[in-house]
Amino acid sequence: MAKKVLLATKKPFAPSAVDAIKKVFNEAKYELVILDNYTSEEELKKAISDVDAVIVRSDKLTSDILESAKNLKIAVRAGAGYDNIDLKAATAKNIVVMNTPGQNSNAVAELAFGLMLYIARRGYTGKDGTELRGKTIGIQAYGYVGRYVAMIARGFGMKIIAFDPFVAADKMKEDGVEPVSSVEELYKNSDYVSIHLPLMPQTEKSVNYKLLSLMKKGATLVNTARAEVINEEDLFTILTERTDLFYCADVAPSDRKKFEESFAGRVFFTAKKMGAQTVEANNNAGIAAAKQIVNFFEKGDKTFQVNK
Ligand code: 3PG
Repeated sequence: MAKKVLLATKKPFAPSAVDAIKKVFNEAKYELVILDNYTSEEELKKAISDVDAVIVRSDKLTSDILESAKNLKIAVRAGAGYDNIDLKAATAKNIVVMNTPGQNSNAVAELAFGLMLYIARRGYTGKDGTELRGKTIGIQAYGYVGRYVAMIARGFGMKIIAFDPFVAADKMKEDGVEPVSSVEELYKNSDYVSIHLPLMPQTEKSVNYKLLSLMKKGATLVNTARAEVINEEDLFTILTERTDLFYCADVAPSDRKKFEESFAGRVFFTAKKMGAQTVEANNNAGIAAAKQIVNFFEKGDKTFQVNK
């Protein structure tokens, strides 16, 4: 019987990416059902109930939702971070979970610079700004996005340092990046700290008062990763105490208004999470997800499985 795949995206892909996904499944003779812009969990539960595979973005696949997915064999997060999927519940139900690492990394990295420039040029108000050239950027976690950030930072003439206990120092050096031996050192020495941590129990609220208080005079913290990796209360305290610091994010704090009202001109948040919202990233991640599903069913290919 033909496989049935659900594309469930609260934040829809660009139309060209949806077309490209359709093409992959047409060729495989799979049925594709699209649920986008949905507003309730119930809609997702209903749509997922009889499909063999699902593609999501930041859409939450909780144990409750997975419970209603009676035929589901594979869930692919078209993107990098899979903190939106209950891996334990998926594994218990023998559902393979994959992500599509690297596919939207350049888009996120470019946005990090969009945010940095906005802060450096004081919100494009005409006030005296500063330049990125000659400044030090500290990359926290040197994965796919971190690497793209380093590549772009080179073009800006920045000094690049990075901290990642899971990446060999030589690998960073090959990219012209100076590895530092502790996260504290990274925060102490950076004019811009760019966070690229995945959200997991070990990283949740790990950017705390102790770390933030080490930031250089006039430094900017850039968060295109996840809001939850920062201790929001600590961030609020440090921005109150240190009026020289700036914060910009694609993942606004939960109390966004309080930050915007208290630190006008020193904080900036995108209207909604949009790091990966480019035509190119949507095409890359969408096509990769669709192909991974076909390869899984047709060839038993489990590359990119994250719940092993
Ligand atoms: C990711 O983890 O790939 C990014 O955060 C993008 O998330 P999105 O698909 O919800 O835009």
